[in-house]
Amino acid sequence: MFDLTKPLEINWELNNRCNLMCPQCGRNEIKDGKLQWRKWANGNPSQRLNDTDNSLETFKTAYNNIGYPVRVIRFQGHVSENILSKDFLPICKFLREETDTSIHVSTHGSANTIEWWEKLGNVFSGDPRSIVFFSLDGVGQESLENYRVGAGYDKVIANAQSFIRGGGKAIWRMIIFKHNQHQVDEARELARELGFWEFVEVHTNRRINMDKEFEYKGKKYILENQDISPEWNEAIKKNQNYKEGTDIECKAIKENQFYVDYLNRVWACYYIPNMKTLIKEKDWYSEYFFKKDSLLNKTLDEILQDSFYDDLQKSWSCDALSYCKKFCSKKIGANRGFKWSMNEDSEEKQNKYLKDHSGKHIQRTKDYV
Ligand SMILES: C[S@@+](CC[C@H](N)C(=O)[O-])C[C@H]1O[C@@H](n2cnc3c(N)ncnc32)[C@H](O)[C@@H]1O
Ligand code: SF4
Repeated sequence: MFDLTKPLEINWELNNRCNLMCPQCGRNEIKDGKLQWRKWANGNPSQRLNDTDNSLETFKTAYNNIGYPVRVIRFQGHVSENILSKDFLPICKFLREETDTSIHVSTHGSANTIEWWEKLGNVFSGDPRSIVFFSLDGVGQESLENYRVGAGYDKVIANAQSFIRGGGKAIWRMIIFKHNQHQVDEARELARELGFWEFVEVHTNRRINMDKEFEYKGKKYILENQDISPEWNEAIKKNQNYKEGTDIECKAIKENQFYVDYLNRVWACYYIPNMKTLIKEKDWYSEYFFKKDSLLNKTLDEILQDSFYDDLQKSWSCDALSYCKKFCSKKIGANRGFKWSMNEDSEEKQNKYLKDHSGKHIQRTKDYV
C-alpha cells in the first residue's frame, strides 16, 4: 500500500493521556449534558484513558522495526497529548541526534515547565523542518477555554515563548469557532510579535457537540460554529452525505503516511485506528483490531503483509469503510480546511513550507473553498 522506496511519514501517538477536555475531541463526549471521557475512546471499553505511555526504550524498538527511512514523524494522534509522555524530550533528542527524521508536534501547550520547553527548543533548533504547532484557539483565557477546556492561556503563551527562545520553530494554529472568529487578526498580529514562525487558520470539519449546552466541573459552556466562512460550512453540509462517496482517493497513499497508535500498532492512516463503529462495519477490520501485532514484536514489512491492507484497498472499489468515504471521497470528503495568512511577507515562507512540508493542506483548501 505504501511506497517503501520513498521516505515515509508517520502520524504517531505515544500515549493515551491528556489533561484537557476539548468537547469535540475523540476522547470526550457529552452525556446527560455533562462533558466526560468517552467510554469507547480507545475502541475498547476495557482500555481506559490516561493509562498508557511509551518509554524511550519502547519507542526506539518500534522505530527500529520500521526499517525504512522516515522523513517526518507527526506527534499528533487521536487520544494523545504527546508532551505528557515522560520521555518525550529524550525521544525527540534521539530522533534529532541519531536519525534523519524531522519532528512535528501538535500540542495544546498547556503542560510542563518553561524550562522544559526551552530544552525542547534547544533540541529542535537547527532543523527548519522540525516544528511545534500550538493549538491555540483563542486570544485570552476566556476565549481559549471555550474549546480548550482546562487550558491556561498565560501558561501556553509562556511555554511557546520559552520554546522559541530555546531556538524552536513554532506555528500558532487556530481553529475558528464563533467565540474567536473576531480575534483572527489580533491573533495573527500577536503571533508575529511573539516570534511564531507562522500563523495558520483552520476550519474544522467537525460538527459534533456544537450548539449544544454542556457542563464541566460546575461551569456551563456552549461551543458555536463560525459564520465567517459560509463556503466552508456549505462544503461540510455536503460532507454529511458522506455515505454516497464512492470515489475514494486515499490520502494515506498520497502522503505515504501511516499511523502508529499508543500500543505501537500500525494503522493505514489517521482516520481509522481503534474505531468502534468500524469494528461493527467489517469483519476484516475487527480481526485486525483484535490482533496483538505491533512494532514491538514485528517489523513493518511483516505487518504490511497482513490481509487487512489488501482488504482495505479492495473495499474502495465496492464497499468502503464509512470513514474512507467521509474523509477521502474526492467529491465530498472533508478534512480540516486550512487558510493561510496571505500577507506579502509570508508568501516566501508559505512557499517554503509547501515545498518542505505538506502542500496538500493548501490544495485541500482549494478543493473545498
Ligand atoms: C486529538 S488532538 C491530539 C494532539 C494535541 N492534544 C492537540 O490537541 O493539539 C489531534 C489533532 O486534532 C486537532 N483538533 C482538536 N479538536 C479539533 C476540532 N474540533 N477540529 C479540528 N481539529 C481538531 C488538534 O488540534 C490536533 O491537531
Ligand atoms: S488537547 Fe488534544 S487530546 Fe487533549 S482533549 Fe483537546 S484535542 Fe483531545
